[in-house]
Amino acid sequence: IKHYNITLLPGDGIGPEVISVAKDVLTLTGSQQGIKFRFEEMPIGGAAIDLTGVPLPEETLLSAKKSDAILLGAIGGYKWDNLEKHLKPETGLLQIREGLGVFANLRPATVLPQLVDSSTLKKEVAEGVDLMVVRELTGGIYFGKPRGFGKNDKGEDIGFNTEVYATYEIDRIARVAFETARKRRGKLCSVDKANVLEASMLWRKRVTMLASEYPDITLTHMYVDNAAMQLVRDPKQFDTILTNNIFGDILSDEASMITGSIGMLPSASISESGPGLFEPIHGSAPDIAGQDKANPLATILSVAMLLRYALQEENAARIIENAVLDTLNKGFRTGDIFSIGKCKIYKEEEKVSNKMASMQEDIAD
Ligand code: NAD
Ligand code: IPM
Ligand code: MN
Repeated sequence: IKHYNITLLPGDGIGPEVISVAKDVLTLTGSQQGIKFRFEEMPIGGAAIDLTGVPLPEETLLSAKKSDAILLGAIGGYKWDNLEKHLKPETGLLQIREGLGVFANLRPATVLPQLVDSSTLKKEVAEGVDLMVVRELTGGIYFGKPRGFGKNDKGEDIGFNTEVYATYEIDRIARVAFETARKRRGKLCSVDKANVLEASMLWRKRVTMLASEYPDITLTHMYVDNAAMQLVRDPKQFDTILTNNIFGDILSDEASMITGSIGMLPSASISESGPGLFEPIHGSAPDIAGQDKANPLATILSVAMLLRYALQEENAARIIENAVLDTLNKGFRTGDIFSIGKCKIYKEEEKVSNKMASMQEDIAD
């Protein structure tokens, strides 16, 4: 029997709700596959601030570093929104990404046949979409210096950040993207703002240079504003998208809606060596937290990514992905992927009728 150590970071809002489901899924799948998981649950984000005064306690990072993989729910909430920057829940998330060195964030967006009608795009546009955003995760404007608050020449308050990428940062994420494209359909689109930003100009130059090492991959470049438009015009043109930290954040939320809901998208964040961090791309959803409305599928699919990428347990990963399809085939839906008149069986009738009522109000508004 195999043993793995998993650090669980439930976090805030719907984080603990989706992590508790994901933990059960992991345990159950493991018991079928002869795998035992030792879970260590640690605080992060607002929960950690309340408990210890900081958003990423040292013990949490230590536990994460010595684990085989980390599963995170989500962080953040109104309660902590006005704290100083170094005490914000979001800072804890950025610190753990940086602390683990997980520079490569893989965010797949796949339109499942069962959910075509949940997409906000027309069926013929959404059907068959299967793309992967490779987002740089530990650099760019999120981490660039100088940053801070100050005064301009006129004595007015200013806030400032720096978008900066070094060659090695571009090269290593580009290599992950080329390798990712190689395992997929061999198409890589690098998204930048090289018509305006120096960091993007260097990005485009390095990615173009590296392409000579991957002659089997078709590389194209696209400006981010056009990419945002193309994603809703014709998302099937994309296979693998390579982009920086902030563009990847925005484009992956956009891509999620093609699949029906942000509650569907998982992610894997990996480093050169050391454990990976697995999390849904969504946040703590304070508007629905504590109401048992959260879609746990993004986290469950993140568990599948954890098994595949961190533990090389491909069978267990497939079992989970098939169970998700099975559940959808049976008609079970949370409110976010529910589409009027298209599916008949729901988890709890009462919640669905509430959702229907609120939808009808929305339509009436
Ligand atoms: P959000 O992703 O939390 O929510 C956006 C909308 O999507 C909300 O209406 C929410 O109800 C819905 N939603 C999100 N996940 C869902 C799910 N699993 N099932 C059903 N509906 C879901 O983004 P936001 O509202 O902009 O941010 C809320 C908080 O979360 C902020 O504090 C933000 O900083 C934080 N955040 C954290 C992460 C993370 O932990 N990785 C990611 C994004 C945002
Ligand atoms: C995400 C989130 C985070 C990000 C925030 C909460 C720091 O939006 O994981 O997508 O911007 O990376
Ligand atoms: Mn985001």
